[in-house]
This record gives sequence, C-alpha cells and structure tokens, in this order.
Amino acid sequence: NQKAFIFDLDGVIVDTAKYHFLAWQRIANRLGIDFTHEHNEQLKGVSRVRSLDIILGLGNVEASQEDKDKWLAEKNEAYLQYIDRMEADEILEGVVPVLQYLKDNNQKVALGSASKNARPILEKVGILHYFDAIVDGNDVTNAKPDPEVFIRAAQLLGMPSEGAIVFEDSVAGIQAANLAKMVSIGIGDKSVLHEAQYNFNDFTEIDTKFLATLVTT
Ligand code: G6P
Ligand code: MG
Repeated sequence: NQKAFIFDLDGVIVDTAKYHFLAWQRIANRLGIDFTHEHNEQLKGVSRVRSLDIILGLGNVEASQEDKDKWLAEKNEAYLQYIDRMEADEILEGVVPVLQYLKDNNQKVALGSASKNARPILEKVGILHYFDAIVDGNDVTNAKPDPEVFIRAAQLLGMPSEGAIVFEDSVAGIQAANLAKMVSIGIGDKSVLHEAQYNFNDFTEIDTKFLATLVTT
C-alpha cells in the first residue's frame, strides 16, 4: 500500500516561528507597534503579505503599497539571515524517524507550505532528500484554508487527494486538509487544533504502529 504524506514546514518540521517573530519585531518596533509573542501566534500559517497587514492593524497603521513592499522585503532579508544559520539540530524531535520510516516503507512524501523560503530551509537542515515533491508559497495562489497547496502536492506525487495524510500545526492548515478530504493530523495544542482527525503534541508521540495503520487504512 502506498499513500501520500504531506508535511507543513513551519511549526511541524522546524520551529521557525521564533525567527519570523524576530524579523517582524524589527519592523513593528520601528513603527511603534507593540508586537508580542501572543500576536505572533496569529501569524502561524499566514502568508507574508497578510501577516504584515495584521501587524499594521495592531497599531492602526495605514501605509502605502510602496511602504508595505519595502517592509516586506526588509522582513524577509532579516528572516533569511536567521535561517541562514539553521542547522540539523533545529529539526523538531521525532520528525526524522517518521520521514525515515516513510522512505523505508515506500511511501510518497511531499511538503505543503505557505513559505516562499521552504526549499532553502530544508536544504539548510539537511532533509531535502526525503521529499518527492515540494509545493510552497511560490507555487500557490490561494492561501490555506484553501486546499490548493495540498491538492497540488498530491498531484505532484501522482496520488489521489482523498486519503492523503497531512501534518499541520495551524488551524487554517487543518481546515485545508479537511476540505481536500485528506486525513488531518494536528501537531500541537489539541484544544486549538480540535478540527483535526488525530492530535499529537509532537512527532515523538507518533509511533510506527500508528504510521502503519495510516498506510493500510
Ligand atoms: C508559514 C509560517 C508563516 C509565514 C508563512 C510565509 O505559513 O507559518 O508564519 O508567514 O509561512 O513564509 P515566508 O517564508 O514566505 O515569509
Ligand atoms: Mg505551520
């Protein structure tokens, strides 16, 4: 039996939320906007452009498109400096054994992320070779909860959408998986990700027995 396994990146494979936070904070501070870790939670799974709008909204700041474009570029430059220093030890615990199990058992593996920096991050932490397909922020027009990113990933794998398995840490991502009739697995707080079909705090809780059931059912 062969299934499509689709992984979100930020918050599922690596904890890049802290770098997104630091990069956004520079811009927010300069504009006098109070941007906290709690606010940052709202930006999980949200595109770069939409994230800026949310941050500007926090401070009731109105800006021209020109200014916004400038800040978006600045944010990404700062973010790139952080991810440039990433190494394999920043892969979240339990992720590599799951990827390895899927490879060893002839399963199809894809990335389905909103980030335009997905590829360099996978390269940096040394796990690009596990992925048969990558769909990221450069490839899709409709953001999660639209299922486009996951449907394209399944297509690239040559697998049906229905029954594909999605690992996600954002509410929008779980909704996207459900809309695509995929099996949604929430990674993180169960009370937040209650729409997911299965919930785990992290990948160390996912054992090979569970993975084997996903493959066979
Ligand atoms: C992921 C992260 C978001 C980020 C988005 C775009 O969904 O959870 O916090 O804003 O990707 O990332 P990018 O690297 O393209 O700015
Ligand atoms: Mg995520």
